[in-house]
Amino acid sequence: MSLEEIHSLGKKPLEHNGTLSSSTSKENKTSKKAYIESYGCQMNFADSEVVASILTKEGYTITEQLDQASLVLVNTCSIREKAEQTVRKRLEYFNSKKKEHSEMTVGVLGCMAERLKHKFLEEEKIVDLVVGPDAYKDIPNLLQEVANEKEAVNVLLSKEETYGDIAPVRLNSNGVSAFVSITRGCDNMCTFCVVPFTRGRERSRDPKSILEEVADLAAKGYKEITLLGQNVDSYLWYGGGLKKDFDKASPLQQKTALRFDKLLSLVAGAHPKIRIRFSTSNPQDMSLEVLQVMAKHENICKYIHLPVQSGSNAVLEKMNRQHTREEYFELIDSIREIIPNCGISHDMIAGFPGETEADHQDTLDLMDYVKYDFGFMFAYSERPGTLAARKIEDDVPESVKKRRLNEIIQKQQAHSLYRTQEFLGKTVCVLIEKTSKRSNTHWSGRTTQNTVIVFPKEKYTVGDFVDVKINDCTSATLLGEAVQLSNQI
Ligand code: SAH
Ligand code: F3S
Repeated sequence: MSLEEIHSLGKKPLEHNGTLSSSTSKENKTSKKAYIESYGCQMNFADSEVVASILTKEGYTITEQLDQASLVLVNTCSIREKAEQTVRKRLEYFNSKKKEHSEMTVGVLGCMAERLKHKFLEEEKIVDLVVGPDAYKDIPNLLQEVANEKEAVNVLLSKEETYGDIAPVRLNSNGVSAFVSITRGCDNMCTFCVVPFTRGRERSRDPKSILEEVADLAAKGYKEITLLGQNVDSYLWYGGGLKKDFDKASPLQQKTALRFDKLLSLVAGAHPKIRIRFSTSNPQDMSLEVLQVMAKHENICKYIHLPVQSGSNAVLEKMNRQHTREEYFELIDSIREIIPNCGISHDMIAGFPGETEADHQDTLDLMDYVKYDFGFMFAYSERPGTLAARKIEDDVPESVKKRRLNEIIQKQQAHSLYRTQEFLGKTVCVLIEKTSKRSNTHWSGRTTQNTVIVFPKEKYTVGDFVDVKINDCTSATLLGEAVQLSNQI
């Protein structure tokens, strides 16, 4: 799945990939079919695989066919208002379907469930089931509540839940790439962001269960694993518990705590023939040790998604980002020094409250310094309950936000082209992921820098590492020809 797809909020039906477990359910298994649709970040897609696993144990099969489903679940995103509007439209559509099939149960999962809680049942009455991101293990009980015509809501946030004990059922999988979540929640409290409210406090998953899941994927033939978290660099395992309670851990726990650089090194070292990626990195938490581990292991992809949100110190401060633009430049310099040819991407927000033309120029100027390979760019969207919504007036007019966003996008396109042109004439190792969207006779894969590359299929197949000579490019895609199977990664 490309990052563009992950961040896009379009409809994303998930394919059947599960197998029936030996369920003790009394119901006829074949009548229990669940349809799951996911929106938003990679974490939501990974969470849907946890939900699919829980449902499979209950005797459900996962279907792609909405009309066949007795249970319809939407894993939702609250990050911007538009994301919520998209989900609302889908819920209305499912509700109209429900009128045709009265036995259909519709449930809302994820961040919107957490944010709107009982409202869905009380005011809106468009769903039967509301489940927050930490309550998925309660779904079987909640389905029973629905059957008993009781209110079925669980939006409790947890201090411990990491779903480390659940083997996800891979959905929409190409059998090559998979996500493995390593942290949940976020403690950063960026003032614009709803995630700390919807996903709770930051906690890390037991490294043993992470390594087991990765080993299982390796045994199944997966070739690329992405370690996931809202802020992977702040991974901290000291025997369980919230990141914020680390101070209260015993001296031994503090001394033997495992951080992200070590985890990354363990995962990469255990599987030298598998590509390891991770997302997302927060500049304030990214350490030089992580960069050194990346440089040391050939199989850790040379790519960092490093959201910055703004190039202006004044705006960064109002956003409660814990670094300055100068510190960000230092980090970029370290990346370039320790990992030459590292791909770097960003997230940027245009029109944060109080942003002046000079602040906006600082953002464009920062982009010129880094020349990102690509980026995800958004107009500021006020989210109820966040600090920015409570304390700062959303005073940049919509038209100005749009204009600034367009300027940011145009600059990014120029930089993306600059970066793809740097590849011309080179031969690079590519992992084949799928047939190209534009042509049945071409493969689509990615370089270690995460740049998409398309080339004629010839004798190669999905999951192969292939050396590809690059002879053309657009700003988003490299075009080339396969030379041979690669002995690189
Ligand atoms: N750390 C997270 C960030 C999740 S949100 C991660 O894993 O990627 C993804 C991006 O959405 C943020 O980096 C930010 O650029 C954007 N975003 C978050 N809240 C926003 C808001 N209120 N308005 C506009 N964009 C927002
Ligand atoms: Fe959101 Fe900032 Fe965390 S963007 S997810 S609060 S790092």
